[in-house]
Amino acid sequence: MKEEDKYENSTTHRRWIQSQKIPILTESSVPNLKEVAVAPWERLGAYGSYIVFDAIDDLLDAYILEIGGGGAVKPERHMYEEIFYVLSGRGATTIWNEGGPKRTFEWHEGSLFAIPLNTQHQFFNAQADSPARFYVVSSAPLVMNLFHDNDFIFNNPYLFTNRFDGRQDFFDGGQATPGRVWETNFVEDVRTFPLLDWKERGGGGINRRFELANSTLTCHVSQFPVGTYKKAHRHGPGANVIIIAGQGYSMLWKEGGEKDRVRVDWNVGSVLVPADMEFHQHFNTGAEPAKYLAIRWGSRNYPLFKKVGERGKVYISVKDGGNQIEYEDEDPIIRKTFEEALAKNGVECKMPPLK
Ligand SMILES: [Fe+2]
Repeated sequence: MKEEDKYENSTTHRRWIQSQKIPILTESSVPNLKEVAVAPWERLGAYGSYIVFDAIDDLLDAYILEIGGGGAVKPERHMYEEIFYVLSGRGATTIWNEGGPKRTFEWHEGSLFAIPLNTQHQFFNAQADSPARFYVVSSAPLVMNLFHDNDFIFNNPYLFTNRFDGRQDFFDGGQATPGRVWETNFVEDVRTFPLLDWKERGGGGINRRFELANSTLTCHVSQFPVGTYKKAHRHGPGANVIIIAGQGYSMLWKEGGEKDRVRVDWNVGSVLVPADMEFHQHFNTGAEPAKYLAIRWGSRNYPLFKKVGERGKVYISVKDGGNQIEYEDEDPIIRKTFEEALAKNGVECKMPPLK
């Protein structure tokens, strides 16, 4: 089958990403986002590559944006949200509303930010001799498929002043709010941002949620210690799980598919996307704490869907009708496989013995 046939008669968004004439990878996971090949992206004066994760069901899209040494991306605005994670390089971004003040912040590897909805934005690479690369997750599929009108999406004068008010310190600071949430517009280094206790998911984990620029998209960072793994769980689709520290693997399976669990080995720079209600479980097999950034729907302030019915019970055991598998209820192969992987790496198992 020819590459373009895969998208024929599909969606407005899929046709649009094809029209961008940059590579479109169809993947369930990517071993290293820093190594994904990119091609010139004429519309933005940059380089890029789309990554289509079938598991997302067109709820979000994901792409690599790269700016050449000393380069700048052409300014644009659009009616979909975007969250940016800086994979490499350093530079600056300028944000403004038509006729309003311009605000600029500087980023480097590990920085995290959102583009406030429909603001003009432009990126600059501060280094003359090396590229800067982002991983971007956006809500373009929902918006494009709903309105199917590029003029409305890319040339819309409406100002969302509740998303960006032009104030001088817009990209400084933030505030802690209930539920381990940090409300902010810019995180300078999400890899070192202080995390808080998160007992429910096991494995001695710590976690923080980030709500950026009043977006509907949200993200969180979770870390779990050496020699441990987290509890298996499942929920709705779309979370882009990006490894930002450590090494290990994840197991993925649908209910009833325990015999066909898929194992995804990961390292810093890997990304995986569990499908709708697919169990996923993360294992740290390395010599340092493992940490991931998950970009997804599910903002506390502006949820896209109510967490109703079976999708809401993410911390309740499957034995009680929920979506988490407690350690003592696991298939014994889970613990055995983990212990074998640790032994191979010479790392001691820190999991409590199973009852
Ligand atoms: Fe999850």
